Amino acid sequence: MNDSVAASDSAPAPAVDLGALQVAVIGAGNMGGPVARTMLVAGVQGEHLLIANSSPASSERAAAVLGATAASSRSEALAKADVVVLGVKPYQVLDLAVDLREELAAGAIVISLAAGITLAQIEQALPDGTAVVRAMPNTPISVGEGAVGLMRGGAVTDAQHQLVHALFSRAGMAVDITEEQVHAFIGAAGSLPAFVFTIIEAMTDEGVRLGMKRDLASSLVQQTVRGAATMLRDTGVHPAVAKNGVSSPGGTTVQGLAALEREGVRAGVAAAMAAAAESSRELSKG
Ligand SMILES: NC(=O)c1ccc[n+]([C@@H]2O[C@H](COP(=O)([O-])OP(=O)(O)OC[C@H]3O[C@@H](n4cnc5c(N)ncnc54)[C@H](OP(=O)(O)O)[C@@H]3O)[C@@H](O)[C@H]2O)c1
Repeated sequence: MNDSVAASDSAPAPAVDLGALQVAVIGAGNMGGPVARTMLVAGVQGEHLLIANSSPASSERAAAVLGATAASSRSEALAKADVVVLGVKPYQVLDLAVDLREELAAGAIVISLAAGITLAQIEQALPDGTAVVRAMPNTPISVGEGAVGLMRGGAVTDAQHQLVHALFSRAGMAVDITEEQVHAFIGAAGSLPAFVFTIIEAMTDEGVRLGMKRDLASSLVQQTVRGAATMLRDTGVHPAVAKNGVSSPGGTTVQGLAALEREGVRAGVAAAMAAAAESSRELSKG
């Protein structure tokens, strides 16, 4: 595995005016919805972001929730689209790309969210020279605190690359990664929220077992996890140094840390991330 994923280029949030951009989201579901939302927050106008789900009624429901516009058909959504987001399930995405051949506006950028479907597969299904980007977001983009890995296809110009970064500029963090790095990205960001949610749930339950009311335990754990992450990010201090800083000799924290290591929490977290990355690698083999 390439270990340079953490050091991938992260383009600065570029000053690109998205106010006139036309976007079509084909499949605004669990992930297409938050992606549409982050693009709206970044500056795409609701009347310019058209949603085409599997039925007009579903498109209208999603559009109403997001403050976007329901397309009456996929063709209507695509007719003027500068950017087309493919938010359908991975098994549907290549058939959809083939269908788009006749409907894609000239010069449109296609952004695929599909896990395990490569740039080459999508490019092959679309007209020659189509600009294709793979985006791998995680769910905290829905609150502007997520991470998105962006993989750039061969036909994407620098201006189009900048535009895609602008579209994800309010997602939290958008980084350029290679398709080889996407598996590590899934372990360290894509699937990671679920692991963190599980750890937060466990911490909260234990707070309750120790005698705290659930809402207080919940708030304290969430604030502390958030605060610890923010402290590391804002100070640049290494986690081990921060940990040592709160570990007095023979004190409460070292006792807790020793128990954490005895229970294999570090190994468990590593195993979860490795399993997610391996599963992503298997998926991409088809
Ligand atoms: N969920 C995640 O955490 C996550 C993370 C990273 C990437 N992804 C990727 O995101 C993609 C979508 O996954 P999801 O979890 O968001 O699935 P989902 O919630 O089932 O959403 C799929 C969407 O596609 C729509 N759709 C289905 N058939 C369609 C068609 N023929 N034409 C137009 N729209 C159609 C569905 O519309 P209806 O609602 O009308 O059925 C729905 O809005 C996948 O490729 C997945 O790999 C997901």
